[in-house]
Amino acid sequence: MAKQKSFVCASCGAVTSKWSGRCDGCGEWNSIAEEAPLSAGPSSKSLGAKRGRSVALTDLSTEEAPPPRTMSGVAELDRVLGGGLVAASAILVGGDPGIGKSTLLLQAAARFARNGLKVLYISGEEASAQVRMRARRLNLADAPVKLGAETNLRDILTTLEAEKPQLVIIDSIQTMWADNVESAPGSVSQVRAAAHELTTFAKRNGVSVVMVGHVTKDGQIAGPRVVEHMVDTVLYFEGERGHQFRILRAVKNRFGPADEIGVFEMTGGGLAEVSNPSALFLSERGEPNPGSAVFAGIEGTRPVLTEIQALVAPSPHSQARRSVVGWDGGRLAMILAVLEARCGIPFAGLDVYLNVAGGMKISEPAADLAVAAALISAREDTALPADTVVFGEISLSGALRPAPQTENRLKEAQKLGFTAAIAPAGGKTGPGGGMSMTRPADLVGFVGDIFGAG
Ligand code: TYD
Ligand code: MG
Repeated sequence: MAKQKSFVCASCGAVTSKWSGRCDGCGEWNSIAEEAPLSAGPSSKSLGAKRGRSVALTDLSTEEAPPPRTMSGVAELDRVLGGGLVAASAILVGGDPGIGKSTLLLQAAARFARNGLKVLYISGEEASAQVRMRARRLNLADAPVKLGAETNLRDILTTLEAEKPQLVIIDSIQTMWADNVESAPGSVSQVRAAAHELTTFAKRNGVSVVMVGHVTKDGQIAGPRVVEHMVDTVLYFEGERGHQFRILRAVKNRFGPADEIGVFEMTGGGLAEVSNPSALFLSERGEPNPGSAVFAGIEGTRPVLTEIQALVAPSPHSQARRSVVGWDGGRLAMILAVLEARCGIPFAGLDVYLNVAGGMKISEPAADLAVAAALISAREDTALPADTVVFGEISLSGALRPAPQTENRLKEAQKLGFTAAIAPAGGKTGPGGGMSMTRPADLVGFVGDIFGAG
């Protein structure tokens, strides 16, 4: 059979028959590279040629025991996993290079090993000596973790078959090399083949596999969606380089809620759990400043308070600057437009900077109102009361929508010493449990409530 060339986008995984500078699938530039044909290998005959076995079928009502789980004892990790590590599951941990993935997984490996699991740590990036050095630094040298430095997938699978571990860490999937696939390690077909082999092995042999994946600049794991849909759980390890906070976020989890986060702090002795993130995120807050608002948010199942900071200044440029860290730039543009159109507060000719303190990334629409509060406070150079939290969604009409889990947000705020909250009226309001509640009917009312009539 004549081999046909195929080209694969490293960003979205789209396959085309000819090269082009820009991917038709996702619009990414320079992401298309030649790959070995998808059906490469000696066994690529048509499936119809030979009959298979029939598949065992069951009813929806067939009783199945819940999968066994093992706790690491690191509460922040166990919660993100959905309540501990599920046996025979495949997990992808993505993150920027240098963010602390190897550190996190070595610490997790040691914990699971001390809790009785047989754990193998395979490093394709570092020599065993380097990993041992890190283990010593983390005070984990005595943990019963077996260590290997290898990139050849065939050798790794053979080792796994012989060793029969219950958990194996692969650091990283981009360094793995399957010798039946004709392309370089790190290419989409190699990553896909390696992830597929490892996931299949996990399911067939009852081993849990954790794969580390480096993300590309725009937040995609190289060879990305292909791997994400193969595994049971996708976790992202994120944080700002200059900050010591690290957030482990479940973006997909077949065995638990997605959007759950675990918060860690990078210290000289490795990652430390942060069991009360709100206190930490607010710890750097000083006297009430203009442009600062405290948002009572929900991350997964847990309320988290964060400070939203805005700076508004006359722009020296012909086109005013809009800069956002930790929030969505499009959403900021929307809030600015609504403030201008519905409340008559213009931001034209003003540079606007927005920052979520502590390196946190917020995606909840309920942050709208806190962002608006920070923006107006910065523009008017008037500080908000220090004891107040803000949350609620803003619609294009200037109407406000109540946020879910109001009660949890208020409880967390109260726990941290806040005494007042501003949140939209309507929805499940409740008494506010001891908090003094301001409930504006719309955005105009909100501006009036916090800054007088305008
Ligand atoms: P690492 O786990 O190697 O990152 P990744 O695997 O995601 O590329 O961590 C790299 C950074 O973490 C490195 O810059 C040093 C820092 N670090 C600490 O601050 N404390 C520690 O105890 C360790 C092991 C690393
Ligand atoms: Mg690493």
